[in-house]
Amino acid sequence: MITYDNAKNILSNYGQEHVLKYYESLSDTEKSDLLSQIEQTDFSVLDNLSKDKDIRASRGEFAPLGAVTINDIAANKDRYEQVGLDAIKAGKTAAVLLAGGQGTRLGFDKPKGMFNIGVNRELFIFECLINNLMDVVKKAGVWIPLYIMTSEKNHDDTVGFFKEKDFFGYDSGHVFFFMQDMAPSVDHSGKVYMESPSRISLSPNGNGGWFSSLVRAGLLEDIRRKGIEWLNIFAVDNVLQRIADPLFIGAVIDSGMQSGSKVVAKSTPDERVGVLCLEDGMPSIVEYYEMTDEMRSLRNENGELAYKFGVILNYLFSVDKLVDILDRKLPVHIVEKKIPHMDENGISVAPDKPNGYKFENLVLDMVHMQDSCLAFEVDRSREFAPVKNASGVDSVDTARELLAQNGVTL
Ligand code: UTP
Repeated sequence: MITYDNAKNILSNYGQEHVLKYYESLSDTEKSDLLSQIEQTDFSVLDNLSKDKDIRASRGEFAPLGAVTINDIAANKDRYEQVGLDAIKAGKTAAVLLAGGQGTRLGFDKPKGMFNIGVNRELFIFECLINNLMDVVKKAGVWIPLYIMTSEKNHDDTVGFFKEKDFFGYDSGHVFFFMQDMAPSVDHSGKVYMESPSRISLSPNGNGGWFSSLVRAGLLEDIRRKGIEWLNIFAVDNVLQRIADPLFIGAVIDSGMQSGSKVVAKSTPDERVGVLCLEDGMPSIVEYYEMTDEMRSLRNENGELAYKFGVILNYLFSVDKLVDILDRKLPVHIVEKKIPHMDENGISVAPDKPNGYKFENLVLDMVHMQDSCLAFEVDRSREFAPVKNASGVDSVDTARELLAQNGVTL
């Protein structure tokens, strides 16, 4: 392990010497814990603060990208379903649940998947997702491997919960957990927050590192051994999420494209959602705040919004391509969040408004590393019910309403 002097050197390179402020008052165990935490933390992400905040400022030229629409899908339903089910039955597809986030907007102190969205009965978010996946398992007659990413903040709770609930009826032999990496979080002036005198405040480093974390956990060997060719990546918070959807998998395979993304038609030109498009001729996602007014309101020859299709964090990636791009660095996004920490008087604070920045890699940046991406339109009232906030837009209330509309007993 590094010495106190080494630690001080590392910290002074980044202007973070205050991390050792309480060092002398710590017990021997706390001292070595802190030194090893400093050794293992990648402080280089802090360099991004001094760069232009808008890391995506140097974007290429955007152009609209069409989708296979709900009507196209209906017209080709039998073929897509056959191709998708064949791939699933042959064991070529698996699902990856990204559940390492802290869900700060929801304000629930356990992993988001443990939230009970039921009204008159218990119905946990994880349970909704497993139920949705079970529909496909039943149809295909095979278990679909499910890889679940957690972080060190929620790993034990998540694994414990699945065990306690007997995996909601899923075969536990087909479920694999792995942990993502952490990154330091900072206040508005760029100083690393402390969680306690002997611990730096670390938070999950975004959902973009999922594949490298999965590889580090040794799961790529498992994937290769099983002959899995496609991974369906999805978020924890969309309770209507169709996972390993045969139609989606079939359409992507049938199209010969390298990847796919489920998309929904934007509800208004100003909806705050990332849009799948082309950037310098390659698939890419333009964030709502990156779009000019002209892009937002641009219409195509049919009078429809040109930048129409919003992403819902449900992607299909090919394992071979993921291995190819494994060493490519993803951009670091600086995200303003509420960060619990210890204040200068040593008191723990749980802020009620954003008080600093976290550093995150995002899975959406992987889309731009693909040669091609099929935009696959789904009906938002049937497949998109995100639980982001406690109330208001994309909240527990809106998700409950959508679940009920789709016949789920609450
Ligand atoms: P969000 O960006 O909505 O999630 O993640 P968050 O950070 O959990 O929530 P807020 O912003 O603090 O309220 C979208 C998906 O990516 C996962 C989340 O669990 C969710 O499924 N995620 C996010 C990770 O797996 N790791 C992360 O570091 C961040």
